[in-house]
Amino acid sequence: MNNIQIIILAAGKGSRMKSKKPKVLQKLAGKTLLQHLVDTSFDITKDVSIIYGFGGDLVKKSITSNTNDINWIYQECQNGTGSAVKLALPFIDKNKKTLILYGDAPLISTSTILKMLKNDFSLLTINLENPFGYGRIIRQNNQVKAIVEQKDLSKNQQNINEVNTGIMAITGDILHKYLPQLTNNNNQKEYYLTDIVALSVADDVNIDAIQPQDNLEVAGVNNKIQLEQLERDYQVFQALNFMDNGLTIIDKSRFDNRGKLIFGTDCEVDVNTVFIGENTIGNDVEIGANCQIINSKIESNTKILANSIVENAIIGENVIIGPFARLRPQTNLANNTKVGNFVEIKKSNIGECSKINHLSYVGDSEIGKNVNIGAGTITCNYDGVNKHQTIIEDNAFIGSNSALIAPVKIGKNATIGAGSTISKDCENDKLSIARAKQLSFKWPRS
Ligand code: UD1
Ligand code: MG
Repeated sequence: MNNIQIIILAAGKGSRMKSKKPKVLQKLAGKTLLQHLVDTSFDITKDVSIIYGFGGDLVKKSITSNTNDINWIYQECQNGTGSAVKLALPFIDKNKKTLILYGDAPLISTSTILKMLKNDFSLLTINLENPFGYGRIIRQNNQVKAIVEQKDLSKNQQNINEVNTGIMAITGDILHKYLPQLTNNNNQKEYYLTDIVALSVADDVNIDAIQPQDNLEVAGVNNKIQLEQLERDYQVFQALNFMDNGLTIIDKSRFDNRGKLIFGTDCEVDVNTVFIGENTIGNDVEIGANCQIINSKIESNTKILANSIVENAIIGENVIIGPFARLRPQTNLANNTKVGNFVEIKKSNIGECSKINHLSYVGDSEIGKNVNIGAGTITCNYDGVNKHQTIIEDNAFIGSNSALIAPVKIGKNATIGAGSTISKDCENDKLSIARAKQLSFKWPRS
């Protein structure tokens, strides 16, 4: 939308986090609090300013998307939300609507924002059983008249349950008119943004109080306890949403998705599995307990058994992985392959119907179709300086406990005898053995 400007307030330290990092760089579902807001903001407009201060460049460098489109405004002295927004005045267009977001409340939804943008001056408020700490909404004849901060409340006002979430949408000319009039005449000696409510009400500006669809949208975090609580609440919120769309989740309180998850029909996720980054899974995929799935694509009917890690990998259909398998970046498993326990694969293509069932390391390899890699096979891909490739062609059979010293090629239909250390290419259709012959001696023991 062209007529919307967004300002994110992120200059504070957040001392209660007891961290070297500024509060907005704490992570929720794998993403910083600030990045959540940046992503939501850019879904709405390209005109986004961030007020930063504590942490300086660290805050700037933390942003992973739209990095060149952000208008950064430095606030040297964090003397209130009002002075923070005042610094942005030169960039605020009188004819546009300005949405103000607080960096420590990361989960505001686009639909709630759109609801707020319909009016000249909208406040996002909620009713809390325990409103302590929040600015309270003062109403007269049901009309919003002012916001009074916790530290400035009179005794009567302390019982008000309707609180300011901090999120506001205001027409630019109202900000231009009233921000310069703010004073710090209060118990915290700060310039409160919230004081523009009373100032504009005095001029008969109408203020609309809007409520979010879900209280999670406005939950703020001040310490690690609240951070953990929000993480859990957010994970359960996501899990319910996924279940609503057909994903079977065995226990929503032991489900974690830190990124984007796309899934087909009849997929099942067992307990304690963590999805990280962008993952796509097809239909009828089963993911066992305690797995980590990172930036991967998994096609239909594949099973990932318990305690497996799949990272930056592409997995075909009808594949079985694990238990206890580790697929590292650039692993491609074709359809009908099997990777068993204690197998590590890195930067390798494994052809259709090939099996690596037990205790192997396969790295920098090109493996054809119907290949059987015996237990304990190692591709020795590193000579201490460089990495080298292993090629194993279709239908080859590698006997158990073989060391394949790369660069090396095993031809089609070749068989490698168990326990071989292969340092030269092996021809098609032949049996190659490279190990000492078994000898027996007379061996008197007494
Ligand atoms: C603010 C509101 C309060 C509301 C509460 C909701 C004001 C005066 N009060 O209080 O009504 O109920 O949020 O959580 O606005 N910040 C800056 N520069 C500053 C001061 C703050 O960028 O000079 C940033 C902080 O980093 C933070 C946000 O503004 O992201 C809110 O500031 P904070 O100090 O947490 O305000 P609250 O006391 O929580
Ligand atoms: Mg706060």
